[in-house]
Amino acid sequence: MDAQLTRWRAETPAAAAGLVHLNNAGAALMPAPVLEAIEDHLRLESRAGGYEAAEQVAPLIADAYEDVGRLIGAGGRNVAVVENATAAFALALSAFDFAPGDAILTTRNDYISNQLMYLSLARRQGVDVVRAEEALEGGVDAQSVREILRRRPVKLVAVTWVPTNSGLVQPVTEVGDECEAAGVAYLVDACQAVGQIPIDVSRLRCDFLSATARKFLRGPRGIGFLYVSDRALADGRAPLYVDMRGAGWVAADDYRLAGDATRFENWEFAYALLLGLGEAARYALAVGVEEAGRRALELAAYTRERLGALDGMRVLDRGARLCAIVTAQVGALDAREVVAELRGWGINTSATTRDVALLDMDAKGASSAVRISPHYYNTRQEIDIAVGALRGLV
Ligand SMILES: Cc1ncc(COP(=O)(O)O)c(C=O)c1O
Repeated sequence: MDAQLTRWRAETPAAAAGLVHLNNAGAALMPAPVLEAIEDHLRLESRAGGYEAAEQVAPLIADAYEDVGRLIGAGGRNVAVVENATAAFALALSAFDFAPGDAILTTRNDYISNQLMYLSLARRQGVDVVRAEEALEGGVDAQSVREILRRRPVKLVAVTWVPTNSGLVQPVTEVGDECEAAGVAYLVDACQAVGQIPIDVSRLRCDFLSATARKFLRGPRGIGFLYVSDRALADGRAPLYVDMRGAGWVAADDYRLAGDATRFENWEFAYALLLGLGEAARYALAVGVEEAGRRALELAAYTRERLGALDGMRVLDRGARLCAIVTAQVGALDAREVVAELRGWGINTSATTRDVALLDMDAKGASSAVRISPHYYNTRQEIDIAVGALRGLV
């Protein structure tokens, strides 16, 4: 084991103690400094009072915004901290006034809750939900996005970078180029990307980007963030339901939006988790997202290779580019049972079922799949343990 890996594992006590945690796409193990940042603040709150504690650590809070911004190539003023990626995504959608016949252009692999939000907008506002064609290898075809943008007016393009149920990486940069050329607003769900794929929002040319702390970023549960571009801020984009943090009530019938992305925030939120998120961003920057992603990808490729060699196991990941999420159908078994068995042996994975990704799972003819998502602090030996256990099951 190289020195870096040894240090990362020492800072991840459960991994060092033998837990085989291959569920980083669910929630990764937090490194010790992240846990400490959260615990320290909770202790301060209990000693000083919640509001007083937040005042005392105001500089640390400001740093957290800056560091989350740095992680995605943005300024702290472009970051709104919210409860999770779904809340971030919904807030971004609410910044658009959809009228009947307005189109949202999206993909067949967008995340389930995003698909449900589009359908809700269709049902309640009469929005047209248009899904671009897939490329032959899988994932959205940027050429199809271009053709649709030429053919019809589109109000918003929304794309999930890495879907939850497979290792696919969608071509979000290419889609961003098409949006820029067509002058159409662009929203990216980077929930599974952040922490495993380097992000530069100016390269993506997106107006909004949503993410969560607990996955490949290794932050705590219950917190996420929304990137809001300067362009979106200047255009006056704001959530439909503005909170007293997001705006000032300046006259009986008037309010003024905050100048920065905090206009998407609520006044009350978990400062301890915010500090944990900031620490997770710093930790990821210190490890290097490129290096983290390279190691995670190497472990995922090894996992696919080993699973592919097992009789009865069908690896389901498709796409020109894949990431550190590996999905496989385990014979005729229900993946939920497989996951429960593995959990009993100290191996954490997760199950993905047809209902979370109807279009993709039906195209693959699969009703459930086990999801193995290694990260840079995992080892080949851990993959061997998981594959050995799966071999026993099939
Ligand atoms: C691609 C993707 N988008 C969004 C979400 C939702 O994230 P959250 O649970 O933080 O709202 C998930 C969660 O698994 C996801 O995988």
